[in-house]
Amino acid sequence: MFNHLNAVPPDPILGLITAYSADSNPDKIDLGIGVYRDEHGDTPMLDCVKQAEKTLLATQTTKSYLGPPGVAGFNSAIAEVIFGADSDALQQGRVRTVQTPGGTGALRVAGDLVKVANPQAELWASDPTWANHLALFPAAGLNMHSYAYFDAQNSTLFYADMITALQQRGVGDIVLFHACCHNPCGVSPSPDQWRVIAELAAERGFTPMVDIAYMGFERGINQDALAVRLFTEKCPEVIVASSCSKNFAMYRDRVGAISIVAETAEKAADIESVINNVTRKNYSMPPAHGPHVIDIILHSDELTALWVSEVAVMRNRINGLRKTMSEKIAASGIQRDFSFLARQSGMFSFIGISVEQVQRLQSEFSIYMVNSSRVNVASFNQGNMDYFIEALASVLSAS
Ligand code: LMR
Repeated sequence: MFNHLNAVPPDPILGLITAYSADSNPDKIDLGIGVYRDEHGDTPMLDCVKQAEKTLLATQTTKSYLGPPGVAGFNSAIAEVIFGADSDALQQGRVRTVQTPGGTGALRVAGDLVKVANPQAELWASDPTWANHLALFPAAGLNMHSYAYFDAQNSTLFYADMITALQQRGVGDIVLFHACCHNPCGVSPSPDQWRVIAELAAERGFTPMVDIAYMGFERGINQDALAVRLFTEKCPEVIVASSCSKNFAMYRDRVGAISIVAETAEKAADIESVINNVTRKNYSMPPAHGPHVIDIILHSDELTALWVSEVAVMRNRINGLRKTMSEKIAASGIQRDFSFLARQSGMFSFIGISVEQVQRLQSEFSIYMVNSSRVNVASFNQGNMDYFIEALASVLSAS
């Protein structure tokens, strides 16, 4: 059965975890995987999560099966966070939210759902996009293409080219968007640009699929849902894949959700039945611990307020690091302009160096980043910024 199988190369992002762990250099820096880090380099649990876990432990009486949609209280509460409590579509019963194992699980279920709904559907993703988008949708049997997005020369959005590309899309096409904190390039459309994009989706009839994995890390929890809310207002059908890995810091608990906006409440119920059928054939039902915890947080005013403030701490730290890094690099004598770091948002930016330079940073300085030169800005701290800038200066001056 397996003799003909050859090893596949490690995942471009997850492979860095192993390489970094094996490196004994005390100055090593992990700018790879997208996890939030505090000033000490730790990825702490949130206080709201710790408090809710205590309540859960004290009150939980069973770990019996939940059924494919998962924790109902989580599903309805996270839908309100994403769509807004006053959302017309929510009130009309046109939204169905089903818990999934992480945001990746939501994306894969979305891919499976689309494949059942329309086997010919093609999916269009920004160029560039998260490396795993490029793997998981084809694994669900969907053909993928890209639309212009990131202007690497100017570290900004190719807005006009993006609009031109989207004008070619129509009914039967799925167009994937990153709601905020674009992974990997850190560049998002402005609120006005999102309005134009949502109008275009309604006009052309393509189906928006929104990946919202960093809600709260760009401008704020509500503000970062703007794209989802605009598409929901203007388009009859929307697919949303959300993650609680980052904004609840519950990475390993694998908490996410797929939400479908349908034309009618009846159609939404039909679609949910297909989702439940798809998940039953895959992982049967999602894990319960994380969603139970988030259910407790979102049904407590006090814990919700704590959560909002803890997300703000993470967002402000990342934005502060972006500003400091851009100023420090400018003051270091490096001639190249890195001021885009301060203009971009979320965990990721491309620093714009070649694969060879990325490899030199790794082999000579134990600084780890994805080959595309994507860095996780949240990994910088007062203790490693100068070392990073020296190393960067060294590889830039050698080229
Ligand atoms: C990342 O892009 O680093 C994160 O989304 C984590 C992952 O699973 O790749």
